[in-house]
Amino acid sequence: MPQTIGIPKETYAGEKRVAISPDVVEKLIKLGFAVQVESGAGEGASFFNDALAAAGAKVTDAADIYATSDIIFKVREPDLNEVAKLKQGSTLISFIWPAQNPDLMKALAAKKVTVLAMDCVPRLLSRAQKMDALTSMAGIGGYRAVIEAANAFGRYFNGQITAAGKIPPAKVFIAGAGVAGLAAIGTAAGLGAIVRANDTRGEVADQVKSLGGEFVKVDYEEEGSGGGGYAKVMSEGFQKAQREMYAGQAKDVDIIITTALIPGKPAPRLITAEMVKSMKPGSVIVDMAAERGGNCELTEPDKAVVKYGVTIIGYTDLASRLAKQSSTLYATNLWRLTEELCKAKDGQIVVNMEDDAIRGFTVIKDGEITWPAPPLKLPAPPAPKAAAPVVKPEEKKSGAGQAIMVLIAAVLFALIGLTAPAAFIGHFTVFVLAVFVGYMVVWNVTPALHTPLMSVTNAISSIITIGALLQVAPPPAPGRLDFPILVIAVVGIALTSINTFGGFAVTRRMLMMFHK
Ligand code: NAI
Repeated sequence: MPQTIGIPKETYAGEKRVAISPDVVEKLIKLGFAVQVESGAGEGASFFNDALAAAGAKVTDAADIYATSDIIFKVREPDLNEVAKLKQGSTLISFIWPAQNPDLMKALAAKKVTVLAMDCVPRLLSRAQKMDALTSMAGIGGYRAVIEAANAFGRYFNGQITAAGKIPPAKVFIAGAGVAGLAAIGTAAGLGAIVRANDTRGEVADQVKSLGGEFVKVDYEEEGSGGGGYAKVMSEGFQKAQREMYAGQAKDVDIIITTALIPGKPAPRLITAEMVKSMKPGSVIVDMAAERGGNCELTEPDKAVVKYGVTIIGYTDLASRLAKQSSTLYATNLWRLTEELCKAKDGQIVVNMEDDAIRGFTVIKDGEITWPAPPLKLPAPPAPKAAAPVVKPEEKKSGAGQAIMVLIAAVLFALIGLTAPAAFIGHFTVFVLAVFVGYMVVWNVTPALHTPLMSVTNAISSIITIGALLQVAPPPAPGRLDFPILVIAVVGIALTSINTFGGFAVTRRMLMMFHK
């Protein structure tokens, strides 16, 4: 008997997202499940009843969903009313925020359900990344933050020269270059603004640059990485230097988007009232951390307020404001998770607590609170390189080894030179030079660029085809066609053609990645 997945309508005021999409209905049915959706649940995301029904879902009411579903998919954590309606022994998959909601956790445990919290997906496991709903939502939030800023800002983002005068590009400063910050940088740069960004983790500087932004460093030596891609709380000295730098930026830029966060800590206060006061009238601040207390001192959560002529936006529902996009990505994260839970594709989920990825976000198992999960056993970071003195004796040895190799090669070449026919020597010299040049070309290119290099050289290296074509051409004098050479040449043409076309295909794919 296949299990039934039920998707109720979100009840949180103003929430437009839904934990399903018509595409995902089809995919869940292919995994063997029955799917039922509350009537009107997808309306906020433009997934209407008829589209969901056409994909194979049963459209019904909330009471039926809660009474008959073995698995419930939700976006927001359930309220206590919704918890009361859950079927005993069922599984709830939703955002939960266990640290912030201890009462909810107790109520869910008392209901003897199993709960998978989408906010606890172990992001560091590459296998879990396809289920990482926090990343999906933060990316959308960062994009929407720029759109909200553009809406409140009274000018173009890109610079223009018109008959009526020259318009300078808007300057945007992004505080915190994590998932949301990087999405904001890409979006603002795409709209033509001058984008600068700062983060306490210096390692993100290259990512900022690659998205078209400029990384602004704090003039204070301290590394901000707290491990696992997250930041740490910085020293007093750093914070002071950072405030000075931010104060300078506030005077210069038109838009500030703040996304700074350290998990489990209140949002760091980065923008003071003084800085807001110093901004140009008409400037905009979007504070994405509003829900955690805000990165800006004057933010009011869920509101857009104007203070000292600056619009400060503290919306906490940025992902919900792009409901179709966020529901599509969230539903896909849920489908990927269901795939992991149902490897047999038989419409039955198995919550395997031995699997690191699944254990990481199983916060309640059959009524027993299993949060927080034990820390992940990740491979240790690579050990620092051995010190030079330890390496030296080795080098001497390999130097002697190399000398012997060169000597052997020289003797071999001399033997070949003395005995082989003249035509062979010519071909052989070209061959040796080709190997040498090829080796030097590849060796002097950074390993990161080997794939593009190989794809291009694959494409051009098929000069072999020309040699093989000459072999299959009709012989100048009749009767000199050598059958084994013909066969080898035809096979050679077939193999090198694969190389040529494969090389061009891979090169084209790589170039497409840079097309807008
Ligand atoms: P993340 O952890 O990927 O990025 C946060 C970044 O802030 C990190 O790169 C970290 O190094 C940096 N940071 C921490 N302390 C800093 C400091 N003192 N100065 C400069 N940088 C600092 O987090 P993610 O996923 O990008 O989310 C960012 C924020 O956006 C969170 O507060 C999240 O709750 C919020 N968010 C808000 C939404 C909304 O609707 N308002 C929607 C989605 C996310």
